Amino acid sequence: MAMASASASQKVLLLDLASNINHVPTNYIRPISDRPNLDQVDSIDDSIPLIDLHSLTSSNHVVQQIGQACKDYGFFQVKNHGIPDEVITNMMQISREFFRMPQSERMKSYSDDPSKTTRLSTSFNVKTEKVSNWRDFLRLHCYPLDQYLHEWPSSPSSFRDNAAEYCRHVRQLALTLLEIISESLGLEKDYINRALDKHGQHMALNYYPPCPQPELTYGLPGHTDPNVITILLQDDVPGLQVLNNDKWLAVNPIPHTFIVNIGDQIQVLSNDRYKSVLHRAVVNCYTERISIPTFYCPSPEAIIAPAPELIDKDHPCQYRSFTYSEYYQKFWNRGLATETCLDLFRSNSCVASREPNSTTPNNFPPPTTIVITPPPPTKATTSPISIESTRETQLNNSPTTRNDWQIPLHITFVPQPQQLNLLPP
Ligand code: OGA
Ligand code: NI
Repeated sequence: MAMASASASQKVLLLDLASNINHVPTNYIRPISDRPNLDQVDSIDDSIPLIDLHSLTSSNHVVQQIGQACKDYGFFQVKNHGIPDEVITNMMQISREFFRMPQSERMKSYSDDPSKTTRLSTSFNVKTEKVSNWRDFLRLHCYPLDQYLHEWPSSPSSFRDNAAEYCRHVRQLALTLLEIISESLGLEKDYINRALDKHGQHMALNYYPPCPQPELTYGLPGHTDPNVITILLQDDVPGLQVLNNDKWLAVNPIPHTFIVNIGDQIQVLSNDRYKSVLHRAVVNCYTERISIPTFYCPSPEAIIAPAPELIDKDHPCQYRSFTYSEYYQKFWNRGLATETCLDLFRSNSCVASREPNSTTPNNFPPPTTIVITPPPPTKATTSPISIESTRETQLNNSPTTRNDWQIPLHITFVPQPQQLNLLPP
């Protein structure tokens, strides 16, 4: 009993701490060089494109519009997306109810361990960060749903049903958008879908309490999302800002629309054609704000690499291949930082690539320094390169030192590009 009341009085969650203060505690205060400068933000003149998905079946205009938005902004909004209003309203309603429950009820879901698949926490990663963020969040894994549903909060009583219904709908929207994005890159419609292996889907319910001094802190500082695409639902309170041409743009809420952004994995798959763009959440002194991002992801074991179709001599391969779990661990451990996590995976080697209408790879390196781009995921069972991937797994179980995997190739192969069939068929 004594323990329980001690932890209750500690006010681990920001919501409970913020309800009664008129100054931001020092651990939330950003250095002067890293503050939101709210008066310099463009909230009227420009915004991210709004795309109507209604005409999706009848034209490829939408493909072109989304491709352009991905190039110019890394962000767009969608309307007529097919998700019923009721599903959206219910999701927002249960989120609000969740955060309004008494502290003792909310704390049942609390954990500061980012590897937990269902957890309520605060800021970003309380174990590693130096400055805290003005946010509480409930994070849920939501695909495959059956695997996680039983872990979700059971109160409010309609939480599981409503959130599950929402997740199923948003997943369908994500799959549609991934087809459009694949097409817009000139790839097969199902390319990205296949690249994600068994797929993953996470959701956050972000709760940003009113803040007495919003110019000193962030709800979330500038970051890129580590996943494939994010589909964000926000209530009617502004707070999201997107970096565009070195200026922060406010994305003001439009009812019944979702905000979509390209995550780091599309930047890799597209070999930098599309950029995962910095965005942040700022807070205000008047009112709470709720946002609900769905993070659509590869499954942890998926091997991510630039699409061979998007590598040529004008576009050398920008990234080494990695498993999504390796990427994701780095993301959580290093904290939100303006330098994106992608830089840790940049490749500085020459790679075999596919030139259109060519039977031999361009830039083919001498035998002793061969570095191979792994084939796209669905080709993995038929390509000779996958044999080497298997061997790498046997030789080196640590996913953090995957760069070593070309060593056995040096020993066992005398590379003859045509015979080895290094290029995906
Ligand atoms: C995020 C995020 C923005 C917002 O959770 O990754 O960018 O408006 N959220 O809450
Ligand atoms: Ni984000």
